[in-house]
Amino acid sequence: MNPDKYHGTIAERYDVERCHSLRWAREQLAVADFVRDGPVLDVPLGTGRYGEIYRERGFAVTGVDVSADMLAVASARYPEFATFQGSIFALPYHDSDFATAICTRLLDWLRPSEMQVAVAELRRVARTIVATIRHGHETIRVNQTHQLSAWYTAIDGLYIEDRRVTEITQDGVEEMFRLRPPTWDDVLAQFQHHGHTPYFEMQRIACEWFGHVQPSPETHRVTSTYWPAADLVKVIDWMASKHDATAEPEDHYRTDLPPRFEDGPVTLMRGGPQRRTIVLDGRRRINRWRGSPGLYPVLLIEWQR
Ligand SMILES: C[S@@+](CC[C@H](N)C(=O)[O-])C[C@H]1O[C@@H](n2cnc3c(N)ncnc32)[C@H](O)[C@@H]1O
Repeated sequence: MNPDKYHGTIAERYDVERCHSLRWAREQLAVADFVRDGPVLDVPLGTGRYGEIYRERGFAVTGVDVSADMLAVASARYPEFATFQGSIFALPYHDSDFATAICTRLLDWLRPSEMQVAVAELRRVARTIVATIRHGHETIRVNQTHQLSAWYTAIDGLYIEDRRVTEITQDGVEEMFRLRPPTWDDVLAQFQHHGHTPYFEMQRIACEWFGHVQPSPETHRVTSTYWPAADLVKVIDWMASKHDATAEPEDHYRTDLPPRFEDGPVTLMRGGPQRRTIVLDGRRRINRWRGSPGLYPVLLIEWQR
């Protein structure tokens, strides 16, 4: 199991030995669908096989790969792409530098713990992630088949916007995912899906915290999560006890969750004198909310004073 073998003739012959497979074609099509915004970080860039797609769309592209030989092939084709010889485990970019980070055919080479580190780096530098993974029962044959649960843990907190199977073999299912942070519409759609609107429930929660505050029908936004309403009330009570009414409007609090919500941080933001926002940025394991297919770890309550 060594993903660092793509040098010399392996690099030179990389495309020609693979590009006639169905898997390759499916990946190209899925990338054309899934990569919609630039700037793009492609890691590992490899031979720059998605370069035409990026070029047609006018995306600014940065490519990272440990192999100088793979980068050389890509640079010869796409001299306008910025390239960097380095590892996915330590990307030399700031948080949110990219709109999209794409990672195909690498995570399968990594152990589950390494895969989590790699995904954490992608999440750090980009809002949307497009990645392939092979999942099924955890095995190591040629390379790694991950358990789906390990993948879910790595992408916890992200919304699976789209997914596409690119190959099924005896080793597992190769699949490409498009992931991004969940939005209010994602959450609401989920509640509607279950024939339930959280509107009054969340109004009640908001009013319980600030009894004198009435959420504005025009501006309030409420979302819920897989946390049941009773738990949300407890969380908000707890956050209220941490709330510093004298702090400046733009203050931003980051604190640990109380023990009963032990898996992640809570962000309490005050968005200005006319607006308050609470974001519970859950880092819990991905749960399915009453069997629903989506993952909604964010609670957002916003209202006007
Ligand atoms: C199977 S190729 C995939 C290339 C391309 N993304 C594709 O889909 O065809 C694996 C690539 O990962 C690169 N690689 C291996 N370990 C890496 C790491 N830790 N960080 C970045 N790239 C790595 C290799 O040099 C190679 O170019």
